[in-house]
Amino acid sequence: MRLWPSRTSQGCYHENVIKNESALLGPRAIAVASGKGGVGKTSIAVNLAICLAKMGNRVTIFDADLGLANAEVLLGIVPPYSLFEVLYKDMTLEEVAVQGPYGVRVISGGSGFLELANLDWSRRRQLLKMFNQFVDKDEIVLIDTSAGINKNVLGFVAAAEEVIIVVTPDPTSLTDAYALIKIMANFKLHAVVNVVVNRAADRNEAMCALGRISTATGRFLEIKISFLGWVPEDKEVLRAVRSQRPYYISNQHAPASRSITRIAEFLVGGNRIASGEGFWTKLMGLFS
Ligand SMILES: Nc1ncnc2c1ncn2[C@@H]1O[C@H](COP(=O)(O)OP(=O)(O)OP(=O)(O)O)[C@@H](O)[C@H]1O
Ligand SMILES: [Mg+2]
Repeated sequence: MRLWPSRTSQGCYHENVIKNESALLGPRAIAVASGKGGVGKTSIAVNLAICLAKMGNRVTIFDADLGLANAEVLLGIVPPYSLFEVLYKDMTLEEVAVQGPYGVRVISGGSGFLELANLDWSRRRQLLKMFNQFVDKDEIVLIDTSAGINKNVLGFVAAAEEVIIVVTPDPTSLTDAYALIKIMANFKLHAVVNVVVNRAADRNEAMCALGRISTATGRFLEIKISFLGWVPEDKEVLRAVRSQRPYYISNQHAPASRSITRIAEFLVGGNRIASGEGFWTKLMGLFS
């Protein structure tokens, strides 16, 4: 099942349900990006990962963010190694991965992703083989990207099979998200972009924020907006950040947790679009 926004008489959007079929296409790489920083990407990626894992999915978080409040911090784990050690210290991805709650695996990109550009052809092939062996065929890989619109973020957005753009109702967040979606549309990186509205006061505010993005993209860009859901402003989120314990674990009944459940159900219930090359192959190509 997939929800798509459609215009109401008030100019805001409500959801129509469209039926979809799922297909088995190998690991499902989903990049979480935003444009503006600090809107809740990491928080959503981490809690979504836990929720998806609790639902029985195998999940890996790729932390592609070099910032401070990254996925490891929110999970309260300290990965001693990163992709850098895989590239230069002959460690395997299994050795570098850290086991988080509910079997969620976390790989810290460290400065490793920046180093991909320096690899020669044989090293690249070797790494690709490692990635493909490490990730299960039906695994969900969530890539938590950093703030801003830069070459790195665009690389992950381009390589991932799907993209989740996190926005808040804040106008600057919407403008920055639009700028990112515009690049995606202009370079034909994706035909569809999933949007999550975070920190909304209520459903109406979330739908209005979505409406603003949908109106602008519908008018000027050739890309579809798929509404994945919304997460309310919830003090449980800040408490979780401070205690380094994801809110989906500490309070599964918190409003934010309930929203994450709906988003996760929606994600696994929706269909997937085959992207030809896999995520890793594309990523290597883009960073070469
Ligand atoms: N739904 C929410 N309700 C209340 N506060 C929230 C919510 N989502 C995020 N926050 C607050 O926003 C802060 C930033 O969230 P987070 O680190 O997930 O953003 P980010 O987009 O990953 O940031 P960056 O761009 O720096 O990586 C959190 O520490 C938390 O305090
Ligand atoms: Mg972050």
